[in-house]
Amino acid sequence: MSAAPSASKPKPLPFYAQFTAGAIAGVTELLCLYPLDVVKTRMQLQTKAPVPGQDHYANMMDAFRKIIKSEGPSRLYRGLVPPLMLEAPKRAVKFAANGSWGAFYRKQFGVNEMTQSLSVLTGCSAGATESVVVVPFELVKIRLQDRAQAHLYKGPMDVVGKIIKADGLLGLYAGMESTFWRHVLWNGGYFGCIFQVKALLSKPNGKAEELRNNFISGSIGGFVGTALNTPADVVKSRIQNTPKVAGQVPKYNWTFPSIALIAREEGFGALYKGFTPKVLRLAPGGGVLLLVVEVVLSQFRTFLGPQYQ
Ligand SMILES: *[C@@H]1O[C@H](CO)[C@@H](O)[C@H](O)[C@H]1NC(C)=O
Ligand SMILES: *[C@@H]1O[C@H](CO)[C@@H](O)[C@H](O)[C@H]1NC(C)=O
Repeated sequence: MSAAPSASKPKPLPFYAQFTAGAIAGVTELLCLYPLDVVKTRMQLQTKAPVPGQDHYANMMDAFRKIIKSEGPSRLYRGLVPPLMLEAPKRAVKFAANGSWGAFYRKQFGVNEMTQSLSVLTGCSAGATESVVVVPFELVKIRLQDRAQAHLYKGPMDVVGKIIKADGLLGLYAGMESTFWRHVLWNGGYFGCIFQVKALLSKPNGKAEELRNNFISGSIGGFVGTALNTPADVVKSRIQNTPKVAGQVPKYNWTFPSIALIAREEGFGALYKGFTPKVLRLAPGGGVLLLVVEVVLSQFRTFLGPQYQ
């Protein structure tokens, strides 16, 4: 279309291919990792001493086995649909935005290949794009989950309608700043690490090694992204839980000053509350995401022809 046809320079895959790959990867990741959440919750809820007539789980594997045996495998997927509706579009936007921003920056800076710093910049920009999509979803979720407010709304669309009516379109973006940083940091870490780790790993020799390399670099990316963004996530919860008092400056307001405040008042560790369960989900999740995205994209390359990179 815009570029002159040339046989040697490969074109980036079209937007819809990256979007589809991200959506399929998001669904796959959730199908793989959702049962872990169910099992984790069961383990957290069970008391130390076995209760007569109830399965007692010795460890995670034991819990998996016993749930499948006495309640059937479908129990591991109960309540899956709401997170699926949120996660699949989020992942689709993440990977499609990464692809589009990468093409944009390469053109702006006049380079053909991605570099380390360009991957971080591209990842951060994809995170910023993702946060624009995520914020209204999250706001609706919080309003519907909050017991004090839930009776005010008939459903998700009713929340959207009432917020827009009361506060305008910008009302949907309340609390945007900390969400913005949360996604910028995660995606900058994720996509930046993937580039770096892939460069460090030996060139894959065959399909199996390629899958393995993608899983490893995606998992490390997920780990680093989570390590970078957890403080912003902690601050986001604080900001959203601080009631607004008219005429009074809220205690937790902008993200970075709030991070400094929490570190000063409660110590550095307070910024990493909830890190372990989060990273146990998001690091392997990042690996599965990248693995599936690359498999789907290579299908698109086969299908669309060799001019695509
Ligand atoms: C992110 O985008 C860049 C630039 O388009 C691309 O080279 C890279 O492979 C993408 N990363 C993933 C994980 O899809
Ligand atoms: C921070 O506080 C000021 C008022 O003190 C307010 O106008 C502003 O919107 C707040 N920012 C955030 C991100 O809540």
